[in-house]
Amino acid sequence: MTFLTVEPISFEHHRDPLGIGERVPRLSWIIQTDIPGWLQRAYEMELSGGTSTGLVESGESVLVSWPGPELRSRERRGVRVRVHGHDGSTSDWSAWSWAETGLLDSADWQAGATAPPRDLLADADGPAPLLRRDFTLRGPVERARLYITAHGMYEAEINGQVVGHDVLAPGWTSYQHRLRYRTHDVTALLCEGVNTIGATLADGWWRGRVGFAGGRSAVYGDRTVLIAQLEITYADGTTDVVVTDAAWRCATGPVTAASLYDGETHDARLLPEGWSRPGFDVSAWLPTEVLHHDPALLVAPTGPPVRRTEILHPAGVLTGPDGETILDFGQNIAGRLRIRVQGPAGHTVSLRHAEVLDGGALALRPLRHAAAHDRYILRGDAEPETWEPRFTVHGFRYAQIDGWPGDLRPSDVVAVVCHTDMRPIGDFACSEPLLNRLHDNVRWSMRGNYVDLPTDCPQRDERLGWTGDIQVFAPTAAFLYDCAGPLTSWLADLAAEHRRHGTVPVFVPWIALPPVPDALPTAAWGDAAVIVPWTLYQRTGDLGLLREQYPSMRAWVDQIAGLAGESCLWDTGSQLGDWLDPTAPPERPFEAQTDPGLVATAYLAYSAGLVAETAALLGRTADAARYRELAERVRAAFDAAYATSEGKMTSDSQTAYALALRFGLLNSDERRAHAGGRLAELVRANGHRIGTGFVGTPLVCDALTDAGAVEDAYQLLLQKECPSWLYAVTMGATTIWERWDSMLSDGSVNAGEMTSFNHYALGAVADWMHRTIAGLAPATPGYRRLMVRPRPGGGLTHARAALDTPYGRAEVSWNRTGNQGTLVVVVPANTTAAVHLPTDPDTALDAGAGRHVFHWETP
Ligand code: BGC
Repeated sequence: MTFLTVEPISFEHHRDPLGIGERVPRLSWIIQTDIPGWLQRAYEMELSGGTSTGLVESGESVLVSWPGPELRSRERRGVRVRVHGHDGSTSDWSAWSWAETGLLDSADWQAGATAPPRDLLADADGPAPLLRRDFTLRGPVERARLYITAHGMYEAEINGQVVGHDVLAPGWTSYQHRLRYRTHDVTALLCEGVNTIGATLADGWWRGRVGFAGGRSAVYGDRTVLIAQLEITYADGTTDVVVTDAAWRCATGPVTAASLYDGETHDARLLPEGWSRPGFDVSAWLPTEVLHHDPALLVAPTGPPVRRTEILHPAGVLTGPDGETILDFGQNIAGRLRIRVQGPAGHTVSLRHAEVLDGGALALRPLRHAAAHDRYILRGDAEPETWEPRFTVHGFRYAQIDGWPGDLRPSDVVAVVCHTDMRPIGDFACSEPLLNRLHDNVRWSMRGNYVDLPTDCPQRDERLGWTGDIQVFAPTAAFLYDCAGPLTSWLADLAAEHRRHGTVPVFVPWIALPPVPDALPTAAWGDAAVIVPWTLYQRTGDLGLLREQYPSMRAWVDQIAGLAGESCLWDTGSQLGDWLDPTAPPERPFEAQTDPGLVATAYLAYSAGLVAETAALLGRTADAARYRELAERVRAAFDAAYATSEGKMTSDSQTAYALALRFGLLNSDERRAHAGGRLAELVRANGHRIGTGFVGTPLVCDALTDAGAVEDAYQLLLQKECPSWLYAVTMGATTIWERWDSMLSDGSVNAGEMTSFNHYALGAVADWMHRTIAGLAPATPGYRRLMVRPRPGGGLTHARAALDTPYGRAEVSWNRTGNQGTLVVVVPANTTAAVHLPTDPDTALDAGAGRHVFHWETP
């Protein structure tokens, strides 16, 4: 008996399709079967309410067009699918999967922007006021939805209960252009008769301090507002709408200071007991003001919100040099503490955070102007009080606890990991424990740096959406997590900022900061406009995203081609180059061995080529030809300017060769062979220590592999001496460091300004580990065809990667003893695989859906 089933259907890239913003959401389904080589011949789709596609002869099962009329606001539709195989098999209908739209038109918004009165606002990052109003229900409720957002950061409550599990809502987007709202099903929170809705409103990114070098406050405005619309549908079909308006009242609450960087202070004595419940006396509360807001800026999310994703218990309790109590959570994270404490009213417990210790004390200098200091002032209850800050987040492994009343038991404090609640989809493991730890560190750095947007770091006065960092890390990110939804939102911001500034800023959302007042085009950073959508297309098959981003992709290449001018060499302007090259002086991270003009020109050629490919996919033939021709001209100019006749680069650096080889910039096989040979020579001459910064690091192992020096790539990866990936691991790192030597071998912290211990960029090598060590890669977009091409080396005896591709779970694992090896490949239904055995990596064997076992033997 065989089986053939269709799993629940997904809508776009949503994890939870409530309040989606797409009128015609694309649908994807995964097929489970034990029929070998199963391929879909046709599908049938049915929408609740009757629409049916009938039989559609198509093998498509990922991001398939919406079969019905456009959805309207608040519409809830179910979908089910039945599939037919080429072998004549037919599945049962899938279960119904449901999605509900949010408010799709500005006209749907009746909510005003309710603001606390100016008198309640102090300097930025000050107290977080409370806002509330009562409302009365007319009868039994069938359903209730809360559509909500803020200028600032909010936590909403209904009848004393927090709404949903979102953290740091509404997150950070380019607020001038896009402000995300969330839709919550609040039916179960309502009660008969009088009800209360309320919110705590902090400054967040809107009004709080953001940015390095002192940063800026009130970037988006000096008033915070809540925008909320509660829509109630009664059992009799009638509706009521409760909105933010002048009926809301306001007062100060327990949060007396809340800053993303500096931390939060909560005076529990100031909590008005029962403030968000009916019957609370508001006579002393102040009236609110209703300010203007533009509902056209409100957008539904494309991915999940930030949530609490894991709780860590202390791994150790340490005593610092001054007798201070320091908890070690054993793992560097983005998050905050939750404490359970009992003591006298008015007593203050202080919580400080740091990523590493220096001389046994918290190393606070790397945090620069981020105090990362939370304070809880006790209410003095008879029972223990539980508290976790709500409007801040810290990057830390260690926490110093001062002023704890009585004895601190480790069970009194936990660390709460917070980040965008993306679905983990990819795994990797191999026989070398240090590489497994490296891989864990990469994953933790992804988690630490996806707090609503892809950031550089989670701890210091920065946490900005640096474009270069995600540009190099995107392939790894897209393997570890389903991040297409969140990155779609960030790319929409990138495109919006791009339009406004006429270039791609180095971080998005962009804010002008004193040391970097203007958005300036910068190679490898601005190329995120092209490379991130392209990477997501490769990994998810989402052509719609390429279509959406195409104007920005093209405008970026047009701009830099213009800057390069007739020579086709982009060797001017402000460049970050191969940022944090290990030979750069600590305080001058841009002083790399590789000429910044070489880096910039290489990226121009590469991005122009990707725009040409994108244009071709989108059916823009004239554009495709134009950008292909541009890419060719830039390649030729690059080759002439930066490579000698034998293929030696003018910058004789690992990064220069890696760029020239991986971006295909050398114009003959001889030159390529020479460049590959020289790269291997340089790597060997450097004792297999890394010699690359942000730009070269993601490419160097691939370049070596392509050049036939895969063993050198392994030796580079397995190196433990500084600078290397495993140096940090042997120094006890639990995340990827910003620089190769963020911590020096004597355990002291690097004196440079850029000394974060949680930056994912250098972890981009994990993509090579997935594709080359384990051997799992997409051969065609979205893994419709897998490329299974493991290259065992480095003395490893086994490796394995597994990935929830858009078509289902794919797995590759191999092990070897002596000269014998076994490769096991699991190919999802409706896909195929090109399998290359380690003994013959240039020959592809064809494999269909199912589990396959291959054996090989080396001479
Ligand atoms: C960030 C980096 C970023 C770089 C570029 C740093 O401050 O942390 O990751 O890409 O600046 O200038």
